[in-house]
Amino acid sequence: MKTYDDIAEWYDQWLGTHTMKEDPLFPAVETLMGNIAGQRICDLACGQGRVARYLAAHGAHVVGIDLSEKLLAIARRHEDSQPQGITYLQADARHLDDIALGRFDGVMCYMALMDIPDLEPTLDSVTRILRPVGWFVFAILHPCYHTAQSW
Ligand SMILES: C[S@@+](CC[C@H](N)C(=O)[O-])C[C@H]1O[C@@H](n2cnc3c(N)ncnc32)[C@H](O)[C@@H]1O
Repeated sequence: MKTYDDIAEWYDQWLGTHTMKEDPLFPAVETLMGNIAGQRICDLACGQGRVARYLAAHGAHVVGIDLSEKLLAIARRHEDSQPQGITYLQADARHLDDIALGRFDGVMCYMALMDIPDLEPTLDSVTRILRPVGWFVFAILHPCYHTAQSW
């Protein structure tokens, strides 16, 4: 099975340069977050960091976490060229034991939960890293769009 490290450059180019405002789904997701200025947000499975950059541009303190070193390298390139104070960490969403308990006000997981094989440990991680009344917002690709040729 291919991993995101295998396709990182292609995936980055496929995403293109449009902003999250132009993304067909993100505006709906954004309304669920409310005002994020000043909040500590984890962009879980952040990929090349497009959502993390958007959240930081709206005043959030953002940590992006992803499994793919290559996508994180692209995310860090953006951060180096236009610093927004985003920290990127390489970790498996199913095992976030090194992240401090209750560290985040919110966790965003955009278009990624369907790519993470085990839901239960991932949701345990989310619960662990969120403060007690923190928020978790996610969006997924509907399973009907997964085809035999997807990967
Ligand atoms: C479709 S991409 C979405 C990336 C980003 N959220 C975005 O919207 O551009 C799915 C992401 O999930 C990440 N991923 C898959 N399994 C993961 C895991 N176990 N832990 C952390 N990230 C994972 C991949 O590396 C990839 O960056």
